[in-house]
Amino acid sequence: MKYQDLELVYNREFIASQVGRLGKEINHDYREREIIVVGVLKGAFIFLSDLVRHLTPPVKIDLVQLASYGSSASSSGIVEMRKDINLSIQGKDVLIVEDIVDSGYSLEFLYQRLLSRGPRSLKTCVFLDKKERRAIPFDPNYVGIVVADRFLVGYGLDHDEKYRNLPEIYAVR
Ligand code: IMP
Ligand code: MG
Repeated sequence: MKYQDLELVYNREFIASQVGRLGKEINHDYREREIIVVGVLKGAFIFLSDLVRHLTPPVKIDLVQLASYGSSASSSGIVEMRKDINLSIQGKDVLIVEDIVDSGYSLEFLYQRLLSRGPRSLKTCVFLDKKERRAIPFDPNYVGIVVADRFLVGYGLDHDEKYRNLPEIYAVR
């Protein structure tokens, strides 16, 4: 393997099958209703681009960037919005798309922020869910894979900004 410090956890085929399943679930739930998809930078950029290509309802895409204080491995609970969306979401059906939910602080923060703007509906879709690490209750509506408590990289996820480009998901040894 290219990176001796990384251990393969999910290969491309498995990732693709889970993204496809999520797309079907979302298509089924929204039918022909337009979805405003809000991707969370940077981590979600690859999952977002794969997922939206499965969606059949009309889709508009916007992006937010969040900053959470603390180390890269653990969130402090203090989250701030570094880049906001440009689209108005009032009265719209909004779907937040994120790479991974860990403590839950980032998504809870974003959820409340967007909810205060009066969307018609607001749901969340995460590719990876570190369920056992939750510091506050947060249940995403759509989950790709429930993962164990290991630090993961690849498929958009980074360690110190590296490895986001890897097509597979790896655990850092
Ligand atoms: P939360 O606020 O603790 O739920 O953290 C979510 C954010 O932490 C994600 O958007 C990621 O940026 C980062 N994160 C959490 N776990 C991992 C991991 O295993 N690998 C890479 N980033 C992670
Ligand atoms: Mg992220």
